[in-house]
Amino acid sequence: MKKEQESMKQDMIVILDLGSTENTVVAREIRSMGVYSEIHPHDIGVEGLKKLENVKGIILNGGENRVVDGVAVDVDPALYECGIPVIAIDHPTAKCTARYDEIPDKEALKAFVFGQCHAEANWNMKNFIEDQVELVRRQVGDRKVLLALSGGVDSSVVAALLLKAIGNQLVCVHVNHGLMRKNESESVVEVFKNQLHANLIYVDAVERFLGKLENVSDPEQKRKIIGGEFIRVFEEEARKLDGIDFLGQGTIYPDIIESGTKTAKMVKSHHNVGGLPEDLKFELVEPLKQLFKDEVRACGVELGLPHSMVYRQPFPGPGLGVRCLGAITRDRLEAVRESDAILRDEFEKAGLDQKVWQYFTVVPNFKSVGVKHNARSFEYMVIIRAINTIDAMSASVEQVPWDVLLKITDRILDEVENVNRVCYDLSPKPPATIEFE
Ligand code: XMP
Repeated sequence: MKKEQESMKQDMIVILDLGSTENTVVAREIRSMGVYSEIHPHDIGVEGLKKLENVKGIILNGGENRVVDGVAVDVDPALYECGIPVIAIDHPTAKCTARYDEIPDKEALKAFVFGQCHAEANWNMKNFIEDQVELVRRQVGDRKVLLALSGGVDSSVVAALLLKAIGNQLVCVHVNHGLMRKNESESVVEVFKNQLHANLIYVDAVERFLGKLENVSDPEQKRKIIGGEFIRVFEEEARKLDGIDFLGQGTIYPDIIESGTKTAKMVKSHHNVGGLPEDLKFELVEPLKQLFKDEVRACGVELGLPHSMVYRQPFPGPGLGVRCLGAITRDRLEAVRESDAILRDEFEKAGLDQKVWQYFTVVPNFKSVGVKHNARSFEYMVIIRAINTIDAMSASVEQVPWDVLLKITDRILDEVENVNRVCYDLSPKPPATIEFE
């Protein structure tokens, strides 16, 4: 495959990872100045660097100690002779053009990037999209790309970008597994099929998924069934299509960093449709793999996607399936879906959707006693959860104003069937998790 950077127009500052935990902070700071920046392993070497285009400066980022996985590391000494300005953060390297004592502030970085490296500030979404459109066209030619379009931010932005690049050579498959939020599948069809005229195959797999999930109460088993069944449905659709050579993927830069640099401890599988059978061989098209999440959103906005799609809060792959606790039943699934829609509506009206990281409702698999229409009721409860977090590893509970909670409670009790009680979850993570299952 052709190297991604080969036709890129933008200048680049390379950060070499020598054990710092601040690599992405520095990369983002440089990108915020309008200059493209990438993080690479410390042992990339001069040969490796030469393969990257338009490198204007190198930052050695490893603090005083320069330790990766308990081992002291350094860079290829030839790096200092390659004619590109090199700067070190907190490390006495005489051969560098300069050194910072700590994480450099914006002004110091600016002085390096523009003063010493003479980089041009040409990194912006418009140029990025132009570059990617050109690269995708070159990679794909007149062949076809298949994309699993879940309606999540990443897959939606990939779809919009590929659509701009190759039009109807893109085949999108949207699988409705019945665990989507209210109107979510409809909005994927509305935006991509009706407005953008994408080649979209809509698969109604609701009965199939709910059938497989019947009486399954173990959370891990539920997740496995949903994930496994998704791959099977997608594979069936792929086999029906002729002449597909490529698979579009919503891989983004944090996925690459997590699996690519030496200091990243957590390696996660970022392939949304991993696990496809061996005989379905596709080359990957990953046009967002240089972007941080907020840049993916900016790209989506630039491509004209609706705000609600681009600024959608995180939503787990197994969807409402892990919020309808225990064995999924249709009445409780509807209660989760309807109460979630009310919560989102009221959060938006109160401006909380801009402020709170993740908010949703959960319906447990037990009933409690209540009084409705002057008679005893025995019905489900809805639990509201609203949390803030930086990285989803720990989370704190949002102090939702009381009047907003009361309004939501009134509406849920009034509008959602089979519910007689609403609770607010006050548990931080840890010891709780964000989701219930
Ligand atoms: P927990 O519950 O582990 O959630 O504190 C952390 C974040 O991950 C999301 N989440 C998932 N996302 N597939 C996903 O794609 C999953 O199976 C899954 N489980 C949890 C959760 O919504 C939260 O943002």
